[in-house]
Amino acid sequence: MSVEAPTVTPVQLGGPRGGPAVRTLRTDNWWVQPTISVVVLTAFVVYSTWAVFVNKDYYVGAAAHRDLISPFYSPCITGSCVAGARGTFFVLTWWHITPAVLILGGPLGFRLTCYYYRRAYYRGFWQSPPACGVGDAHTKYTGETRFPLILQNVHRYFFLLGLVFNTILTIDAVMAFRLPGDGTFGVSIGTLVLVANAALLWMYSLSCHAARHLCGGGVRSFSTHPVRYRIWKFLTPLNARHMQLAWISLLFVALTDLYVRLVSAGVFNDPKIF
Ligand code: FES
Repeated sequence: MSVEAPTVTPVQLGGPRGGPAVRTLRTDNWWVQPTISVVVLTAFVVYSTWAVFVNKDYYVGAAAHRDLISPFYSPCITGSCVAGARGTFFVLTWWHITPAVLILGGPLGFRLTCYYYRRAYYRGFWQSPPACGVGDAHTKYTGETRFPLILQNVHRYFFLLGLVFNTILTIDAVMAFRLPGDGTFGVSIGTLVLVANAALLWMYSLSCHAARHLCGGGVRSFSTHPVRYRIWKFLTPLNARHMQLAWISLLFVALTDLYVRLVSAGVFNDPKIF
């Protein structure tokens, strides 16, 4: 039996990144994942930018016997918010452009600094590197040790801010069970959409690496921290699905906005279930 001579791949230790003419020896479709990331993230950014600046059709109110608000506009805290959408605790009466701009920073910062999304957009947009075992598109690598990428370290604080937004969207979902002028309690498709959106956002947040670190980080022995151990046991399987939850919750936020928008614009009525 003849034995094939091994192929030799020249490697220069400590050499420049991404230099060689042969970018990768991989023969599988490694480019599919980064391409999907680019397409979906670009589509989301385009849609959400439009939804934020269009500044209308973000609320379905009492006239339609509903209380449905788009997640892009909640909490609505400016004097320019449409009647019914505005909260009463805190109102910026002097703010006249789209109210969504004011709250955009929280969810955006949380997603942008997410460990998973970093991987997705570093690979997809920055090609650094595009996939495991594929040459970097850049010759230098400085990681996240200096400005501006060192700012990614604020993710743990955005995680806490994200919990505040989740709480607000959960309250919105609960309020959506009131069908004003159509009984004191009821369920419509819109109600379920808001509930599903809030639930997915909680699952995404609780699957965050910062959440898992918060309950398990620094603990030397779980046997002396039974409560933290139970929380850690609950969060760990979620954490293993962080990537999936990141995509599903992202798409569902956009779908929730679209649903509220179409009902508000009168394209169709929100069907009542009971
Ligand atoms: S790591 Fe993705 S949300 Fe925290």
